[in-house]
Amino acid sequence: MGDHRNLINITDLSAAEIDHLIEIADDIIADPVKYQDMCAHKKLATLFFEPSTRTRLSFTAAMMELGGNVLGFDQASSSSTSKGESVADTIIMASCYADIIAMRHPKEGAPFVGAQYASVPVINAGDGGHFHPTQTLTDLMTIHRKKGRLGGYTIGMCGDLKFGRTVHSLINALLRYDDIKYVMISPEELELPDYIKDTLDEAGVEWKEVRSLDEAIPELDILYMTRVQRERFFNEEDYIRLKDSFILRREMLDPAKEDLAILHPLPRVNEIAKDVDDDPRACYFYQALMGKYIRMALILYLLGLK
Ligand code: CP
Repeated sequence: MGDHRNLINITDLSAAEIDHLIEIADDIIADPVKYQDMCAHKKLATLFFEPSTRTRLSFTAAMMELGGNVLGFDQASSSSTSKGESVADTIIMASCYADIIAMRHPKEGAPFVGAQYASVPVINAGDGGHFHPTQTLTDLMTIHRKKGRLGGYTIGMCGDLKFGRTVHSLINALLRYDDIKYVMISPEELELPDYIKDTLDEAGVEWKEVRSLDEAIPELDILYMTRVQRERFFNEEDYIRLKDSFILRREMLDPAKEDLAILHPLPRVNEIAKDVDDDPRACYFYQALMGKYIRMALILYLLGLK
């Protein structure tokens, strides 16, 4: 509905558009004052049917730093969804009150469905185990800032590769860049879904699956750690058995490259020990900060203001 762009899957953006968003975000970091009123009189609706700290707060901070306003809810129980209202009707309502919508939902595809009914841009802020495109923009922004390029490295992805939507989105994005080798580190039960493995095969990239983080670490330029996604498990016993499959500890970094970049979309539970936080290779809190700047760029772009 309407003549506007949405962001549901990272592939909705071309590589050139991602470069453009990163350029805007770099410029915001260099000169934030230039941007502080660009969204004056604009409103962002944050419709979060599932918990969030970083995504919701960084979208909120992003809109505030652009001079705009934010409205919304942070749990389904505080919206009329609890009375039985559909996603479609909720989105139609939000379109009446806001200029742009960020939506998180536990059901895969819900933001896509919502976007069919919206008269303003809809941003997928995470849908079930499916996609999380603004986390991917955050990851790409962090890689760009830390490595100075988006291709030409070996990346290890570790943890819950089955349910981890951030991993799925990031792979889809990275396949556009040259000379990337992928090392997938997970227990057998949390391997990448077959459709993502097929995507890697079809792209003809170099990738492998391994079971040992220790063995993988020395060859990595980027290590992307992930949490075991408790909320996606069908039974608690399986979660308890698998939750501590990989824990990155400070001493495990001794054989790692000096310029390794350790990323994690966060929240972490215990897959990165606290003593890693002080290591200069730990980039995950910096990454969360980059999430605010790239979301500022995205809001400006989807509103046609930049
Ligand atoms: N990375 C991320 O999506 O974090 P939140 O769930 O806290 O938003």
